[in-house]
Amino acid sequence: MEVVPLGSAGQIAAVAAGIVEAVVRRKPAAVLGLATGSTPLPTYRELLGRHKAALGPSYAAVTCFNLDEYVGLPVGHQQSYRATIARELTDGLGIGADRVHGPNPSSDDLPIAGECYEALIAAAGGIDVQVLGIGSDGHLAFNEPGSSLASRTRIKTLTAQTREDNARFFGSLDEVPTHVLTQGLGTILEARHLLLIATGETKADATAAAVEGPVSASCPASVLQLHPHVTVLLDPAAASSLDRLAHYREVYCAKPAWQGF
Ligand code: GLP
Repeated sequence: MEVVPLGSAGQIAAVAAGIVEAVVRRKPAAVLGLATGSTPLPTYRELLGRHKAALGPSYAAVTCFNLDEYVGLPVGHQQSYRATIARELTDGLGIGADRVHGPNPSSDDLPIAGECYEALIAAAGGIDVQVLGIGSDGHLAFNEPGSSLASRTRIKTLTAQTREDNARFFGSLDEVPTHVLTQGLGTILEARHLLLIATGETKADATAAAVEGPVSASCPASVLQLHPHVTVLLDPAAASSLDRLAHYREVYCAKPAWQGF
């Protein structure tokens, strides 16, 4: 796991956008895994800015898979993750809706919607780079504490904490769905490169538990320790509870130019 303490959310956006672009340059038909939430937004804006300035790669052959989705929102709801990803990133990059997939909460057969989504990901050849945020309770996608570290895409019930955290996107807490479809932790571990971004003080303890704590279902993001290729980009506030912060800084400062991410 490469932990990279950076100076600001803006610096994170520049590095994260560079990582995503490098994957697409290397593999024009790359498969991108996309996260929602506030954290990746500066990265998405950076990607869009570079694309509009014709500085980015072509996204003409790229396919995307969303991490998760609310269950119970009307189709096309502005806070559905499908609509959010289209609005915040993929429409602007010219990636058509037919190439942006998400777990289907309108499926007639909801219990097997997860299985169908896994089959779609597999048919696309798997995810090349998966953008991830982290919940204040250490959740990854919508895998709340207690989720099996081997879990697959399935329906989950949100914790009260996550519903409160996400209420800011809705008119009121009551409007936040109670159920979701989410990639499992085992599913996420199959992506070739995991790119976790955390910013702000509310993420400091969860980040420290994920990076330096024991691997445990009590902190779902700690499952990242089992993956061979993880990059963790942190702003100073999110990095503030790490015991080995000085070491991560030394490693990043001494990072050879040829190494990449
Ligand atoms: C949601 C999403 C996660 C995201 C998390 C943190 O619950 N399902 O993928 O990482 O919230 O969101 P934010 O970045 O807004 O703090």
